[in-house]
Amino acid sequence: MVLPLNPFAAACVRFVADALGQPAALFSPTAPPRPEMGDFAVGVFPAARALKAPPPALAARAAAAFVATDVLAEATAAGPFINFRVRRPALFRHIIDGTLIPDIGHGETVCIDFSSPNISKHLAYHHIRSTVIGHALANIYRALGYRVVGINHLGDWGTTHGMLLAAYARWGAPEPLTITALNDLYVRFRAEMAENPALETEGREWFFRLENGDAEARRVWSQFRAVSLAEFETIYEALGIHFDEIKGESEYEADIPEVIAMLEERGLLSQSQGATVVDLSDADMPPMLIRKQDGATLYGTRDLAAAIYRHRAYRFSRSLYVVDRGQALHFRQLVEVLSRAGFPWAEKLAHVPFGLVRIGGKKTGTRTGNVVLLKEVLAEAEDKSRARIAEANPEMDPALLASAARAVGLGAVVFANLSTQREKDVDFSWTDVLSWEGDSGPYIQYAHARTASVLRRAGETLDTEACDTALLDGDPEWALALKLADLGDVTRRAAEQDEPHTVSRYLLDVCALFSRWYTAGNQDPARRILGADAATRQARLALCAATQRALRQGLALLGIAAPDAM
Ligand code: ARG
Repeated sequence: MVLPLNPFAAACVRFVADALGQPAALFSPTAPPRPEMGDFAVGVFPAARALKAPPPALAARAAAAFVATDVLAEATAAGPFINFRVRRPALFRHIIDGTLIPDIGHGETVCIDFSSPNISKHLAYHHIRSTVIGHALANIYRALGYRVVGINHLGDWGTTHGMLLAAYARWGAPEPLTITALNDLYVRFRAEMAENPALETEGREWFFRLENGDAEARRVWSQFRAVSLAEFETIYEALGIHFDEIKGESEYEADIPEVIAMLEERGLLSQSQGATVVDLSDADMPPMLIRKQDGATLYGTRDLAAAIYRHRAYRFSRSLYVVDRGQALHFRQLVEVLSRAGFPWAEKLAHVPFGLVRIGGKKTGTRTGNVVLLKEVLAEAEDKSRARIAEANPEMDPALLASAARAVGLGAVVFANLSTQREKDVDFSWTDVLSWEGDSGPYIQYAHARTASVLRRAGETLDTEACDTALLDGDPEWALALKLADLGDVTRRAAEQDEPHTVSRYLLDVCALFSRWYTAGNQDPARRILGADAATRQARLALCAATQRALRQGLALLGIAAPDAM
């Protein structure tokens, strides 16, 4: 274990390590089973073997050596654990002023390939998973001080694009040229191809022309690409997503001969049924296809070129691919081939897989028509939240209403995708993605808006530096503050596991604790945030502001906006 980023938890670990003369990396802090027992517990088991002593004796020995410090108030042995109490005013001070997410990336580079849709098709609801998970990971790494290169590896190359060109040549240009029209063209081509296999050859020939720079093929294909990208951009913009690099598979064409020559030179290529492959049978994998019989390159070949390019351009310390689980074999092959080719950085590549989205219990598919369009979901979510926000805030300024409606509508959809572990399959449900209840984005946004409203209603200048944190003496305040102090460790864990869900669960916990504190004032007016004497009110407002900041930061990690009223 590395030391916790929470300095109070770290102090507990360091104390135990020093008291027992062991490396701090052995120990990790947990929460005691009941809050009355203390704020952090550190088990001594890992030291028992080296010190040849029973854990309870070691815990007693360490606790006996305890001397209170600026951050730690008390230590007591409890069986094999040492329970610590921290100095509450100091921890309150820390969460009020402190930087909760420290820089641990020191500018190291992480490439994140996400979204990466295929052109000439709509972004369907299932595309949202890569988009939203990848965006959250980009935010998480960036917040930790990494340099993030967000990459959209557009699928704009390959035989399907030849088929579209063939369809266009056969049946003429659709008017107007939209993604819907292109999709229809493709579906029609596939249907006719099932009857008439000659179409397959036509498609292949058109792709051949495209690959060889034929002017007409290029011209039409560029239109398809531009139309698609324009629609994708509107969705990315709505979601607040910006890519550092948008580079289509087509753009690796020029690098391919060099890649193939390199594989050849390293003796990795062989022929199989006319195709050029890298045999991976001794790694128990099917061969990776490099070039088809007709000379066409493949998805995998282009990924080899892209990986090499990314390493050359960015010198990444990690290079992530946020792509559905169905492509796991492809990425294992990619890493295997790169390491056989002698690139030591191949081990820095990682596939970040996620589960399927099912609609009506079935796999989604553009060709089978089992899709829900992403833009429809986003529009519906926005409409619903506009109606609800307008109802709750009849006086709201129209521009504010519009931006809150969008933020909350998107918040619902985005959070619905991050509220389960990424590897789980999800069933698309209109009710879930539009929900405001329970574990939902709007629930968190609502808690945030509530913190903002308390601060607004207070109508006083908040002097966080001057406030006396010793006045925060209730258990609900304390439980909330302890949770807020976790933000940095939660963010780091999310990055270590490439799992934004860690952050979404954390935010739900923060909201529950905030609401416990907030509603404590319902029974007891003396506990109302705004109901106390001036000095206590200042301290409570400072905690409220710290909660607001943590919720806002946490939502921002997930790519969700935090309006001040809703
Ligand atoms: N365009 C691909 C698809 O829709 C995903 C690409 C993922 N990125 C990559 N470098 N292979 O399935």
